[in-house]
Amino acid sequence: MSRRRIRFGLIGLGLMGREFASAVSRWCHLDTQAPVPEITSVCDVNSNAFAWFRDNVPSARLAVTDYRELLASKEVDAIYCAIPHNLRRQVYADILNAGKHLLGEKPFGMDRKANAAILQAVRFHPDLVVRCSSEFPYFPACKRLIQWAREGAYGRLVEARSGFLHSSDMNPRKPVNWKRMASVNGAYGCMGDLGMHTHHVPLRLGWLPFSVYADLQKIVKERPDGKGGTAACDTWDNALLLCRARDRETREEFTVHFETRRMAPGETNTWYLEIYGTRASARFSTKDPKALHVLENMGKEQGWIRLETGSQSFIPSITGSIFEFGFSDAFQQMIGAFLEEFAEGGPRHPFPNVTPGETVLSHALLTAALESHAARKAVEIRLDSES
Ligand SMILES: NC(=O)c1ccc[n+]([C@@H]2O[C@H](COP(=O)([O-])OP(=O)(O)OC[C@H]3O[C@@H](n4cnc5c(N)ncnc54)[C@H](O)[C@@H]3O)[C@@H](O)[C@H]2O)c1
Repeated sequence: MSRRRIRFGLIGLGLMGREFASAVSRWCHLDTQAPVPEITSVCDVNSNAFAWFRDNVPSARLAVTDYRELLASKEVDAIYCAIPHNLRRQVYADILNAGKHLLGEKPFGMDRKANAAILQAVRFHPDLVVRCSSEFPYFPACKRLIQWAREGAYGRLVEARSGFLHSSDMNPRKPVNWKRMASVNGAYGCMGDLGMHTHHVPLRLGWLPFSVYADLQKIVKERPDGKGGTAACDTWDNALLLCRARDRETREEFTVHFETRRMAPGETNTWYLEIYGTRASARFSTKDPKALHVLENMGKEQGWIRLETGSQSFIPSITGSIFEFGFSDAFQQMIGAFLEEFAEGGPRHPFPNVTPGETVLSHALLTAALESHAARKAVEIRLDSES
């Protein structure tokens, strides 16, 4: 019997649009009963982006420069959208109002107002699957870390640290692009780009920050404009958020530290999560992607054990269990988690993608972080009545 298909339209055919298409093109990699994704349509304002898709995605029969044409197509059930942040409010709402399911890139709205507008459209369409992108929890060692945390293996929480460290901007001669311009990227700067990656697991585990002290840095304030001149680079490069959080279940308070940096010497694309508790601690970093480090509290003496985790992620794959796992695999696993939401009567994925409600919490935290940095003091994280 042929499997159900979910027909995708892609809006935004840059770096991530191609990553999505590549993951879909090797769908036979995953051993899942979830529907199979098929890319039927693509859209980018820059028609030069079409050539790669013409060569590599033969199922994409429609290529358009206006996303509304794509949304009008009956051949599209769901959208993956990876466009600049300032366009999200309108485009995400239009996607939902056109009756299409959405896997949208983060941030879910350039700012809190945009997020609230998108959430309103979400509420009008409860039948649609709407999720926000975040792929790093799908690394096998992070899956083990999540299972470990869900079992409460840590005892009483002392501290959690969640971070994402880039060195993409360490070269001051790198030309400016939209991600370095506050008018397009948003006032959150690096927190808008990278923050959701650090929030997904802590929020899902029910660790809710209620106050934040933020230290934000603008380090390189001007960059080449790519045309022989210079242009303002006015986004936050680095952010460190020190939060007080409460465990939703136990009501215990502890410290959570969120770190997002575009200028992190010595890093490339390092995502990490560390959980420290009274009984045990555990940590994972993509810098050492095969390893989960665990420490059992033995009183005075402290020692980490390194567990080798192989390639067993949430959705089984054809890869031998001892082989290595990487970014593209995590991204494919994330799309798999999205598709498992459509499985009829099938098992629900144990760690679904970021929900719209979680994006609201993320925005509340980032908005409070901006306020905290401006006031140079810790501020309460407030949820509006809307959320
Ligand atoms: N999940 C991840 O790990 C990850 C990694 C990198 C980027 N991202 C996110 O993905 C998003 C896109 O990033 P990118 O690196 O692919 O950017 P990019 O600049 O490479 O691509 C964006 C594309 O959108 C197109 N575009 C602009 N306006 C449009 C419109 N109105 N309609 C259709 N297309 C339009 C641009 O022409 C461009 O091709 C960002 O939000 C970024 O935060 C996610």
